[in-house]
Amino acid sequence: MIILGIETSCDETAAAVISTQDNSIKILSNIVSSQVALHQKWGGVVPNLAAREHLKNILPVITAALSKARTKPTSIDLIAVTNGPGLIPALLIGVNTAKTLSYLWNKPLIGVHHIEGHIYANFIGSQQESVSSNRKLNSCLLLADNFFPALCLVVSGGHTQLVFMKKHLHYKIIGQTLDDAAGEAFDKAARILGLNYPGGPAIAASASKAKNKKHKLLSKNLPRPMIGSPNFNFSFSGLKTAVLYLTKKNERLLKKESFVNEVSLEFQQAVVDVLITKTIAAAKKHNPKTIMLAGGVSANAELRRQLGEAIDKELKNISYIMPDTSYCIDNAAMIAAAAYWRWRNNKNKKFYAEAWKDLPVDANLSL
Ligand code: KG4
Ligand code: ZN
Repeated sequence: MIILGIETSCDETAAAVISTQDNSIKILSNIVSSQVALHQKWGGVVPNLAAREHLKNILPVITAALSKARTKPTSIDLIAVTNGPGLIPALLIGVNTAKTLSYLWNKPLIGVHHIEGHIYANFIGSQQESVSSNRKLNSCLLLADNFFPALCLVVSGGHTQLVFMKKHLHYKIIGQTLDDAAGEAFDKAARILGLNYPGGPAIAASASKAKNKKHKLLSKNLPRPMIGSPNFNFSFSGLKTAVLYLTKKNERLLKKESFVNEVSLEFQQAVVDVLITKTIAAAKKHNPKTIMLAGGVSANAELRRQLGEAIDKELKNISYIMPDTSYCIDNAAMIAAAAYWRWRNNKNKKFYAEAWKDLPVDANLSL
């Protein structure tokens, strides 16, 4: 089947066309119009500015996705759109556009949870790679019994969660952040360090340039909040505050690139240490067959690499998969991929045929 995906929950206007066959997903087009440059000067996303940009871009982005995929509206079988969580003014543009197209083209419509989309980025194409078992997973295996249960570490700008999936489309949150999300912490720390928005890629780039492992002012490590707590929750706001205090005490050093690079390295390692320790502990308790990564922060090369090493060292017979880096940050291919699994698992297709009438938008939609 051919699915048109639409995503406008934050600061990317995105549309994609995917084709599904025999349980494999092929990306025909994946267009993302980023508003990063617009929001950069505010150091974060301004919801109403985002909505204005989405409104300007949504139809050109959808047109480009269809034309790149050489697909006509008549060939589309299903429309998928993110209907939460996210910024209400931004979500409304995508959802209202999707509802209108669903009505006009007479196509069924599915609302997708944004995080479900991130998780299903793992199921796109052939990016699966198994570290610990040294096997290549393929999309058939993703259907098989030996893929589930799975444990997914979701790390985005708005969410940090450990999600246990006993099967497709079933989510149990076994741990989550009590304050800032991991991506939010990257963004805030970057701002303190005078780096660009979004902070994740900026801190990663700065950290990779650090010559010394640690600046002498960091004789005491930055904290690893809640790393030893007897649960799978996270907290990142104290880490950000520690960066703030450190730099306040040494403001003139912020002009020194080597200082910024070394603080970036230590900050990134602190986040990675906490994420990995909690994921391994959760896996030991819940015994998944697969560990997955999802969300914008899963593009982080150190997190990807070090989690693989920790799984190899500490766990046995666990597959480790992660989305291709091009599908980690917000995109619409992942939304279409999640919709495919919803579609094939739901017998009530009439519900989707009429969803254009009343698909709700929910800023706090739960998984
Ligand atoms: O999933 P995403 O695109 O949007 C949300 O759903 O929030 O995630 C965006 C977040 C931002 O906070 C950004 O700084 C972070 O992902 N991010 C990264 C990297 N690339 C993006 N964080 C760490 N390292 C990266 N390479
Ligand atoms: Zn996202």
